[in-house]
Amino acid sequence: KGKRAFIAGVADDNGYGWAIAKSLAAAGAEILVGTWVPALNIFETSLRRGKFDESRVLPDGSLMEITKVYPLDAVFDTLDDVPEDIKANKRYAGSSNWTVKEVVETVKQDFGSIDILVHSLANGPEVTKPLLETSRNGYLAAISASSYSYVSLLKHFLPIMNPGGCSLSLTYIASERIIPGYGGGMSSAKAALESDTKVMAFEAGRKRRIRVNTISAGPLRSRAAKAIGFIDMMIDYSIANAPLQKELSAEEVGNTAAFLASPLASAITGAVIYVDNGLNAMGVGV
Ligand code: NAI
Repeated sequence: KGKRAFIAGVADDNGYGWAIAKSLAAAGAEILVGTWVPALNIFETSLRRGKFDESRVLPDGSLMEITKVYPLDAVFDTLDDVPEDIKANKRYAGSSNWTVKEVVETVKQDFGSIDILVHSLANGPEVTKPLLETSRNGYLAAISASSYSYVSLLKHFLPIMNPGGCSLSLTYIASERIIPGYGGGMSSAKAALESDTKVMAFEAGRKRRIRVNTISAGPLRSRAAKAIGFIDMMIDYSIANAPLQKELSAEEVGNTAAFLASPLASAITGAVIYVDNGLNAMGVGV
């Protein structure tokens, strides 16, 4: 029986979420995605108009099917949490049921259960500011969008996840080593995400036999990464300094996600898996 995956954080064909969806689809999974509300319209229109058809091609020549796109804002757990100005915002008012609790309820009504949860989203409004220049609000917003969003998604999805399933997120080495330029509390948010991966592996493992892992990915020229402003430098740095001197492709991260979601990884949980051409293992640049 095919598995069903919900991937939160897909709004174009350039990011890790899209690549993970493709690798899971190639392995036979049914794909549901959660798309940030402000990006929903353009994503759905582009999908419908065939703008992503070239990047939908799977290794067997068929096109990846996305069974359903759910509007999602992972910063809000229930409708009660949503401030009036957002409720009134045109882009938000145009769709409904996009808080975490409502999305999970809708998925439950639509399909009953899922097997794989992927968290591939992050947001830090002050990411371009050094930590020592970050405001309290900016720091808390980074944690809310990039770390608690995952706790909330797993907390709400867990009751409808089939035992033996798996949950995954994306992290970055800035959680544990100094990466100047990854500011605004984003490094702190990734540290929280990695620690939460361990604690949630214990809790979800004991509760429902769900494995919880995170992929520490190398640099990719995604929409989110371009907004940080240093992505080209990080890619060049990696090619110059990593054990494997090549550009990292999103597909390599997608394939690792497919492995981690498969029975081949049945004893792996609570782990940070590096998919970064080995850069994390270097002590100094060369
Ligand atoms: P991306 O732009 O493809 O994905 C980020 C997604 O988050 C976007 O689709 C955006 O619409 C969504 N999003 C933002 N706020 C949201 C919210 N409140 N609710 C729902 N969705 C929201 O970029 P990328 O880089 O593929 O990011 C995916 C994950 O990979 C992130 O966790 C990122 O930190 C991580 N990562 C990225 C690296 C890179 O170099 N691109 C390196 C290591 C980790």
